Amino acid sequence: MRLLDLPPIWMAPMAGEAASAALVAAVSAGGGVGQLGAAYLAPARIGEIAADIRARTDRPFGINLFCPQPWLRDDDALDDYLARLAPWHGELGLPAPVRPERFEEDFEAQLAATVAARPAVISFAMGDPGVARVAALKAQGFSVLGTATQVAEGLLLQASGVDAVIAQGFEAGGHRGGFLGSPEGALIGTMALVPQLVDALDIPVIAAGGIADARGVAAAQALGASAVTVGTAFLLVDECPLSPAYRAALLAARDADSTLTRAFSGRAARGVANRVTRELDGVALPAFPQPNAASRPLRQAAAKVGNADFISLWAGQALPVNRTPGTAADLVAALARGWRT
Ligand SMILES: Cc1cc2nc3c(=O)[nH]c(=O)nc-3n(C[C@H](O)[C@H](O)[C@H](O)COP(=O)(O)O)c2cc1C
Repeated sequence: MRLLDLPPIWMAPMAGEAASAALVAAVSAGGGVGQLGAAYLAPARIGEIAADIRARTDRPFGINLFCPQPWLRDDDALDDYLARLAPWHGELGLPAPVRPERFEEDFEAQLAATVAARPAVISFAMGDPGVARVAALKAQGFSVLGTATQVAEGLLLQASGVDAVIAQGFEAGGHRGGFLGSPEGALIGTMALVPQLVDALDIPVIAAGGIADARGVAAAQALGASAVTVGTAFLLVDECPLSPAYRAALLAARDADSTLTRAFSGRAARGVANRVTRELDGVALPAFPQPNAASRPLRQAAAKVGNADFISLWAGQALPVNRTPGTAADLVAALARGWRT
């Protein structure tokens, strides 16, 4: 099924260090679809980065947001978490960790800024934007995408009217993007998830998770995907402003270093194991996004001083498959060699 008249190679939205205009624009200018992971960006910043992308390329790009999560503030659990961070703050010479003043950006304001930025595509993770919101966005000319980690989520998103569903397999780097049950509940691999969603849905399916080179692209197409979205492999391209310690950790990691952890954010996410993921393994944590906000000063300071022990090293299982140096356009071209038109 043809997808939205856009190229078949998409860069996954990646909130955090990779949320860069230069990277998104380089992917779109290079023949793919770049996407901005805007989940942690203040609304004004979304507008600034989108303007910067547009100044660099007139090709289509996407913006991605996390749907708001139902969560309960739990100061006791948060204080326990801060106590666990405290020795690590000490190691980096930081003041003791404190309760964050705010935990997340205002979703409605982020969405308004996203709409004002006029990307071609608006995609959502961690929730179903719902019939009314999807209809309103489509009426304004946006293509709207949702993320599914299981068939039931795909069916709900389809019923809400999205143009396509991103099938995020277990291999994927970063946060689990599903929304039914616990994020650890639907750990279905891309190979198994994509054909199930293709069979269940009447709209296009975009494969995400574990795709790093032309072989993965060809496999995803063979499974019925209408496009692929690749995250991890783009972290290592020249235009990605990754901190040197994060980059070095990705270059050194082996296949078995990949882990699913709640340690940094309170929500399951895949990355390269390090001290934080090991030492907080099995520890009860407050709900997302409380740890995400609470651990931010530690993560940012660690990135600055080049200490990968305390950085959330989000990356997928296919990280070792393709660490070939090059530009975003080189990677788009290499991936596109796996797509049969
Ligand atoms: C560093 C990083 C950040 C991510 N941030 C987001 C995000 O903000 N929104 C989102 O929908 N998915 C996010 N993801 C998940 C990707 O959308 C995608 O599912 C995943 O990268 C695909 O698997 P791969 O990493 O094996 O290519 C992120 C992934 C990584 C590696």
